[in-house]
Amino acid sequence: MAEEETAMAKLSINGERLLANLDRFAAIGATEKGGVNRQALTGLDREARGLLAKLAIDRGFSVFQDPVANLFIRRSGRDERLAPLLIGSHLDSQPSGGRFDGALGTLSAFEVLETLEDFGIETERPIEVVAFTNEEGCRFAPGCMGSMAFASRSIPDNWLHLVATDDGAGFADELDATLKSLPEATMRDLSFPVFAYIEVHIEQGPSLEKQGVPIGIVTGIQGTRWLEVSITGQTAHAGTTALAYRRDPFHAAVNALGSLFPAMMPLDPAARFTVGRTALQPGAVNAIPQSVTFTVDIRHPSLETLDEMESKIRAIVHEAAMDQKCEATIEQIFDMPPANFQDDIVSALGRAAQERDFSTERMLSGAFHDALFMNRVAPSAMIFVPCRDGLSHNEAEHVEPEHSIAGCNMLLASVLQILP
Ligand code: GLV
Ligand code: MN
Ligand code: MN
Ligand code: MN
Repeated sequence: MAEEETAMAKLSINGERLLANLDRFAAIGATEKGGVNRQALTGLDREARGLLAKLAIDRGFSVFQDPVANLFIRRSGRDERLAPLLIGSHLDSQPSGGRFDGALGTLSAFEVLETLEDFGIETERPIEVVAFTNEEGCRFAPGCMGSMAFASRSIPDNWLHLVATDDGAGFADELDATLKSLPEATMRDLSFPVFAYIEVHIEQGPSLEKQGVPIGIVTGIQGTRWLEVSITGQTAHAGTTALAYRRDPFHAAVNALGSLFPAMMPLDPAARFTVGRTALQPGAVNAIPQSVTFTVDIRHPSLETLDEMESKIRAIVHEAAMDQKCEATIEQIFDMPPANFQDDIVSALGRAAQERDFSTERMLSGAFHDALFMNRVAPSAMIFVPCRDGLSHNEAEHVEPEHSIAGCNMLLASVLQILP
């Protein structure tokens, strides 16, 4: 028994295979600048899912999908009745995304499955790799649809009427086409008991790289809220309408934003405020817009501060709209309260790192992840690896090969640590 344990402690993943798989998936939706554009439920997303399913079937694993197109790769356990340990991330990307955001976690999880298979290591419990649907939320908001539906055991009706931001395709049609593109996957129910969930991800920030630490052990995820602001005025002729007589929603929006940025800064250095998308209707050069919409993404580790930020935003936007004789509506389109991971699983990851002599930093995640939702139904945890200049959601996103390999070995060690 002691010998078996020592052998397990030394078990390593196949780094070359992991890097080759990262390259293969990065080719699906590759952009000229070395990044990836593989947005959720597109043909490219289907291609990536198809490739993962093929690799899985080639290794003798079983492939499943659920009604929201979460993809699962199962390696059986000695006792198939036990709830599986889930490991994974997502395969969709930002429109100008990098090669690692999502893919690293999904392919590291698959590499762990292959390593266990290579060494003929049986586990009591089944282990499943998961690629969650639409983590990014760019083409259809909100993000984390797959894990959110899994955790709440339902697909909200309003998702089925969503329209893609890029090509206007309907969510329900794209979901259906994605499910049909993988006939080799067995359909299963939306949710099932899970023993635990572990996700590897790039840090998407500079902390690990700055400190020269290869592994981040994530203790929780800060809260995120998305708002959609819409300011309505009156469209009119750009040449004939005097400035004093306009109800110009863009003027109101600019004034609002001019006050919002400085209002958010003094709150707390941890506060985040981003306007990522804006649109003017009808969008003609020579017409005052009828309406202006913009999105707001706010983040903070404390729920109270998030509430405070949202109230400030509401007050400032309404005042700016009134000043220009316009009307504003503010809709919350996404609300993710902060999550704390359970001590037991975080400690297990600490022991796994010690066993492998990895130096680590315990940290909070600034980005949201599927682990936030999975944490509601099973003990969940995350492993971060450094990325160059802390850059992510950018085509230049880069992870040193040795850091990808270390993150994957850390995942393997964590899996062996928490399995009974
Ligand atoms: C996820 O990609 C996020 O925006 O945190
Ligand atoms: Mn991600
Ligand atoms: Mn992302
Ligand atoms: Mn993300």
